[in-house]
Amino acid sequence: MKRIGILTSGGDCPGMNAVIRAATRYAIFFDMEIYGIYRGYEGLIDGEFEKLDRRSVADIMQRGGTALRTARSERFMTPEGLERAARNLETFKINDLIVIGGNGSLTGALVLSQKYGINVIGIPGTIDNDLAYTDSTIGFDTALNTVLDAITRIRDTSSAHERTTIIEVMGRHCGDIALYAGLTGGAEYVLVPEFESDINDICQKIMEGVNAGKLHSIIIRAEGYPVSSLDLVKQVEERTSREVKLVVLSYLQRGGSPTFKDRMLATECGVMAVELIRDGEKNKAIGEKDGEVRAFDLEEALAEQREFRYDIYNAVDVLSK
Ligand code: F6P
Repeated sequence: MKRIGILTSGGDCPGMNAVIRAATRYAIFFDMEIYGIYRGYEGLIDGEFEKLDRRSVADIMQRGGTALRTARSERFMTPEGLERAARNLETFKINDLIVIGGNGSLTGALVLSQKYGINVIGIPGTIDNDLAYTDSTIGFDTALNTVLDAITRIRDTSSAHERTTIIEVMGRHCGDIALYAGLTGGAEYVLVPEFESDINDICQKIMEGVNAGKLHSIIIRAEGYPVSSLDLVKQVEERTSREVKLVVLSYLQRGGSPTFKDRMLATECGVMAVELIRDGEKNKAIGEKDGEVRAFDLEEALAEQREFRYDIYNAVDVLSK
């Protein structure tokens, strides 16, 4: 009987549990055994494996986080760690591994497949949306809705006090949360790690708004933007003489019940992962392209470079005048 391993790795995201549930129940449906591996690659190295059954994944789809817990693993980046991980999979007679995570996690999975021949199926689970091969990652939609809810609440008080509010969101290297939330949240300005904006341009935009009768302004800053939020507050206050407040959303963006979109994408990815393993498909990354969930070659998928959506970035400016 074929045995599958499944783990969640890196930053958790809403929707991971929906993947685990779909993969587990479809594996059992196809008469396979499926083992949950706890704490990502750390648990893979430490042998924290547990056989899953239908009941193991009951009542988890609506919950954020991950029933298998997760971790970031420095050890997995070492030859010794990789060796131990591969040996543990061999001991459990598992040669097919489903990895749910972001860019770093899927890249680690590729190394495991290249060095030890483990068949890896990658599923894009991260709020960052930083995987170029897929239009959307699991967790991105839920995180965006969390940020939009925060922007709506902040707009109330920011306008009441006629303030400028800087909202810091997650995204170390990818500014998609800031970009898409800024556009759909009606922000005046979006600051992303992909490039540095001119502080004078930011302040000019704020003052144009004031002169046009705007009561307040909202700036969305991705945490990876090269100028810190505190420095930005100071610079904008000095240049505009306006009251500037800072809200850091931080880990709020990682939690919450997954939206329909994330649950649907997660479920489709979980089912497809097991179907690919059933059909003997090797080393694939599952993603969404033009509304359709598809499987791509893992190495090619991870080699794709993201293109920044300047059209959306420019639309933020036009729409907030
Ligand atoms: O990768 C997803 C993410 O949420 C990033 O947006 C964020 O910078 C990072 O994880 C935070 O990592 P940690 O949870 O390890 O602090």
